[in-house]
Order: sequence, then structure tokens, then C-alpha cells
Amino acid sequence: MIDARIDIRIATPDDAGLLADLGSRTFGDAFGQQNAESDMKAYLASAFGERIQAEEIADERSVFLVAEVAGETTGYARLRRSDAPPAIPGQRPIEIVRFYSEQAWIGRGVGPALMAKCLELAASMGGDVVWLSTWDRNARALAFYEKWGFMRVGGQQFHVGDDVQSDHLLARAVD
Ligand SMILES: CC(C)(COP(=O)(O)OP(=O)(O)OC[C@H]1O[C@@H](n2cnc3c(N)ncnc32)[C@H](O)[C@@H]1OP(=O)(O)O)[C@@H](O)C(=O)NCCC(=O)NCCS
Repeated sequence: MIDARIDIRIATPDDAGLLADLGSRTFGDAFGQQNAESDMKAYLASAFGERIQAEEIADERSVFLVAEVAGETTGYARLRRSDAPPAIPGQRPIEIVRFYSEQAWIGRGVGPALMAKCLELAASMGGDVVWLSTWDRNARALAFYEKWGFMRVGGQQFHVGDDVQSDHLLARAVD
């Protein structure tokens, strides 16, 4: 159910701190309960921090989207023009590197608003295929991506600390 107007904006260098906090918190909320604390700590420290997100924002191949409702941050996504694993079809791949709604906003339209903008942006970035990697235990996200036309094209490993997990590789054409 969409119960509020969701605005999507492109992040600026001033958002590095916000994205570091948001990234760490939403990853922890989504996967903390299913992972050992030491693995989560190690992953969060390696992936999130103001300096890390500042570098990612500065990367010209990369775009962060921030979702807001009445000025409150409700989610974010990161797109990147990237080399893709061989399983990904297409010539000009765009990766959805991160895709997260704040817990309180799950099921309330933030995911759909972010995905619509990701697909629009992927087209304007010249991509012909959008792809991503998601944990094989992440049933809700897998259902969401399927709804948005993504198909499973393969798999790959994902490391959370010392834990080696199995991800699905999903892809869909850019309209
Ligand atoms: C991925 C995410 C942004 C999608 O947003 P959302 O608000 O959940 O999106 P929607 O509610 O439109 O779609 C989720 C679908 O999964 C279904 N679903 C809910 N719980 C489910 C479950 N346990 N198993 C399978 N499907 C489930 C919902 O019913 C819904 O489908 P429907 O519209 O047909 O009812 C959001 O779930 C999220 O932030 N999850 C945590 C972070 C995450 O996993 N990110 C992806 C990392 S790759």
C-alpha cells in the first residue's frame, strides 16, 4: 500500500554521513538476526563509513538515490555502471548495488518508487540490462524483484565476515 508521497532524489557529497548510517543500519536490520554478530561487525566495518560512502558518491560510474517522505529518509538505492559476471546478458550492464527500505517503510511503496527510478536512471545511463545479486534466503526481496521482471540468471558467493553465502544473480532488460 502506498500511503504517502515518496520523493526520490540523487545523493550529493553532503549525503556521505547519512548514507553511511542508513546503509549500516538497514543492512543490520535486514540481516542481523540471521548472521553471527562477529561476521556482521566485520562486514559493516568494511562496507560502511562516511569516508567509504564519500568515495562511492564521488565515483562517476555510481549514483545513489535517496527516498524521502516529507523530508524523512525512508530508503536508498545505489546504481553503478560496472563489469558484470559472465551470466549477465547484455552489453551495457547497470548494477543495483544496494536497494533498501527503512524497516518502518517496508510494504509502503518505497521499494516500488526506488525501483521505478532505478529503471529510469539505468536507461538514461545508457544501460541495456539491470542486474543485482541477492541472498538466496531473502524471500521478500526475491519476490519483489520477480514482480519487477527480474529473472534468475545464475549465482555467486557473497562474504559476510567469515561466512560464505549463496546469492542469486538476477537480471532484466532496460526498456
Ligand atoms: C527489498 C525491499 C526494498 C522491497 O520493498 P517492499 O516494500 O518489501 O516491496 P513490496 O511490498 O512491493 O514487495 C514485496 C513482496 O514480497 C512479498 N512478501 C512479503 N513477505 C514475504 C516473504 N516472507 N516471502 C516471500 N514474499 C514475501 C510481499 O507480499 C510483496 O509482494 P506483493 O506485492 O505481491 O504482496 C524491502 O523489502 C527491503 O528493504 N527489504 C530489506 C532489505 C533488502 O533485503 N534489500 C535487498 C537486498 S538485495
